[in-house]
Amino acid sequence: MLDRVLTVISRALRRGRGEQRGELVAPKAQHAVVQDSQYVAQVIGDGTASVTVQQAPLTPTPAVAPAPPPHFTGRRAHLDALKAALSGGGATLLTALQGMGGIGKTATALKLAQEVAGAYPGGVFWADLPRHAGDPRPVLRSWARCCAHDLAAEPDLNVLADQVRGLLTARRDARGPLLALVDDVREKWLAAAQTLGRALPPGVPLLLTTRDARLADALGAQVHNLDALPPDEALALLQTLAGAAVVEAEPGAAARLLASVGHLPLAIELAGRRLVALARKPGAQAIVAGLAQAVATRAVAAFCGPGARVGAVERGADPGGHAPGHHRPARYRG
Ligand SMILES: Nc1ncnc2c1ncn2[C@@H]1O[C@H](COP(=O)(O)OP(=O)(O)OP(=O)(O)O)[C@@H](O)[C@H]1O
Ligand SMILES: [Mg+2]
Repeated sequence: MLDRVLTVISRALRRGRGEQRGELVAPKAQHAVVQDSQYVAQVIGDGTASVTVQQAPLTPTPAVAPAPPPHFTGRRAHLDALKAALSGGGATLLTALQGMGGIGKTATALKLAQEVAGAYPGGVFWADLPRHAGDPRPVLRSWARCCAHDLAAEPDLNVLADQVRGLLTARRDARGPLLALVDDVREKWLAAAQTLGRALPPGVPLLLTTRDARLADALGAQVHNLDALPPDEALALLQTLAGAAVVEAEPGAAARLLASVGHLPLAIELAGRRLVALARKPGAQAIVAGLAQAVATRAVAAFCGPGARVGAVERGADPGGHAPGHHRPARYRG
């Protein structure tokens, strides 16, 4: 009997709301309820009776930022300085982590969020502006959902922000301090970032990331600049990604490779992945030197892999005046 009830419920859940797994919370033959975080399914009767699937009542959930990249390396001094800025209070409530694209602002902000989460029992409220094309509404709604409120029906942005501020104030009173992180503030999304700022109760520290130094200044933020990784951290990152043995086999070439990409984390990631692929090839040797050479001659295809667009590289801009592919060492051909 119980099996039949469960089958009816799981079919209903699949039909009505997509694949759901639920826990049987009232296992009675005549009356069964299955509940998961989003939906409740209910059967009343002897297993042939009707099933209703409805939205489960919202419950508060933890507010956490996404995890940082698993290979996150270094940045200790920056993380400590940011922690000090956030806990400073008063004039340092708004902190901006500023730096060029690919330098590691998002990764560092996520690492920070992970490290400080314990100090903010009210939660770490994360806003990924590019993900929502700069629209603050989905962010505000997701923050409200964490506070067990569905504000999907609220059309007015100012009302939405006011309501979220009320919810976050109650959350802070009940649970303790909150932290807010807004990732990738750009000039065109400035109003969105300001709306998110207004949705925070007074006194909640806000860290934003931006490429735009002028914008960070204009916002009156305490600006914290992120620049390239120091050579030792760049080397550690390459070793983590490509394997210590690969890098240690050619230490001079590794240093040249890292210097050629300006110790930029994004480029080191590409290089690390490429080295992994090259090291798998039978008879692979001097792969780090080959890759360093490819970077020095701006051979994009050799650096990024066969799918890369060589056309993106300026032809003839290299010292020899050849197309990039002509500089590729023999081991990369074919
Ligand atoms: N310290 C680090 N350790 C390991 N990987 C890193 C580190 N910093 C950045 N990365 C990696 O480098 C890439 C670029 O970093 P990230 O996306 O954080 O840059 P960004 O400064 O936010 O760039 P953008 O301005 O384009 O948003 C990411 O794939 C990230 O995982
Ligand atoms: Mg970013």
